[in-house]
Amino acid sequence: MANSKPEPKKLFIKTYGCQMNVYDSERMAEAMGGAGYVETKSPDDADMILLNTCHIREKAAEKVYSELGRFRKLKNENPDLKIGVAGCVAQAEGEEIMRRQPLVDLVVGPQSYHKLPQLEAKARSGEKALDTDFPIEDKFEILKKRPKAKRAPAAFLTVQEGCDKFCAFCVVPYTRGAEVSRPAPRILDEAQNLVERGVREITLLGQNVNAYHGAGPGGNAWSLAELIWALNDIDGLERIRFTTSHPNDMSEDLIEAHGTCEKLMPYLHLPVQSGSDHILKRMNRKHTAESYLRLIRKIREARPDILMSGDFIVGFPEETEEDFQATLDLVEEVKYGYAYSFKYSTRPGTPAAERAQVDEDEKSERLQRLQSLITRQQREIQDAMVGKTVNVLFEKPGRLTGQMVGKSDYLHAVHVADAKVEIGDIARVEITDSAANSLAGRIKAA
Ligand code: SAH
Ligand code: SF4
Ligand code: F3S
Repeated sequence: MANSKPEPKKLFIKTYGCQMNVYDSERMAEAMGGAGYVETKSPDDADMILLNTCHIREKAAEKVYSELGRFRKLKNENPDLKIGVAGCVAQAEGEEIMRRQPLVDLVVGPQSYHKLPQLEAKARSGEKALDTDFPIEDKFEILKKRPKAKRAPAAFLTVQEGCDKFCAFCVVPYTRGAEVSRPAPRILDEAQNLVERGVREITLLGQNVNAYHGAGPGGNAWSLAELIWALNDIDGLERIRFTTSHPNDMSEDLIEAHGTCEKLMPYLHLPVQSGSDHILKRMNRKHTAESYLRLIRKIREARPDILMSGDFIVGFPEETEEDFQATLDLVEEVKYGYAYSFKYSTRPGTPAAERAQVDEDEKSERLQRLQSLITRQQREIQDAMVGKTVNVLFEKPGRLTGQMVGKSDYLHAVHVADAKVEIGDIARVEITDSAANSLAGRIKAA
């Protein structure tokens, strides 16, 4: 029989790091779709493997090299297999990756994903391919195709990228470059397309999402709040979230939107990193613990039931027991529904890397104390949901027959047994139980 159509090549993408990488991986898969690739769930049958990497902490970067080493066998079995490294490690280390791991054929930084098909072709021809430029063209515009394929009900949408804040510990301003906002009409277009494909909840992404200042339809810069209000008008879109915010960019109109914009969900991730003013200053955060607490009081005035989430670093250079205690005090005061805490990790090239480091055991001990406080707090807030009725957007079937799992407005995972709902439905659910990492409930009759 004549062989009419060539078999599509298979692409395996593994994503590390933040949600922005998740969004980027989807865009890369779409770009490679145009070059004859379909996605596969396993590296074993792939023609190309792409690791979309994270450079935020030392462990994250090291993981990439140990993962790459594991592909040696696959490459021996299939010499045509191409291996690529994308994301923030690609940006930070560039060519060094190919020197350290010769299995790698292709290295592409976060601003060059639209060039992936050309880079792949170069790699196929047997050359090493590298692109870590910060080009002036808009990668989003070039990546913009209007795919029609059905989507899961909750989606990410990058609206802003890069960071000009230069916190003393952080690599993001170096790996993602200067802050850039996408024009609002393009974001609205993309949101409309997502909704047509079944999306009901959109999380707007940016390293500093609340510093958003993209051009509106008339050319004037829009704030994040203005963008949210425009999204609020899209029929079929039911929920809007955004992450990650910086305390210094929580503008009045955004705080107000939390009280008045119906589709904006009562959840806010607002990292503070430390509760000690001395450490905050040394981190170059440009806010104090008190100004952060004042801000949260104001946000809670606008939206009393808002669930707060945050990020913390323990063992930043020079952090004393007293400084650490101030962090615990701040956590006690705020009461976080979710919080993520990390041991400070020295990142070469950042200002804090040069300073007096805290002992590793001390860091571990502090992390453990902070995490036990956070876990207790998180659990208390979750347990307090029992007896309440919340909206749940159903995202997937659960492990048990007839069970469905979704997210509440507050982002808690909620399991419902015998739920007569479809994926993408939003229903009123009465919470009946609270377990370690999720809630259970039953559908309330309308
Ligand atoms: N743009 C976001 C997130 C940055 S990275 C923001 O500004 O908040 C996510 C989290 O990783 C940070 O909030 C911080 O808590 C943590 N982080 C960043 N650099 C780190 C480092 N060198 N060591 C440990 N944790 C770090
Ligand atoms: Fe990193 Fe600070 Fe920028 Fe967040 S605000 S990305 S922590 S430099
Ligand atoms: Fe990591 Fe880059 Fe995101 S360093 S946290 S993947 S911006």
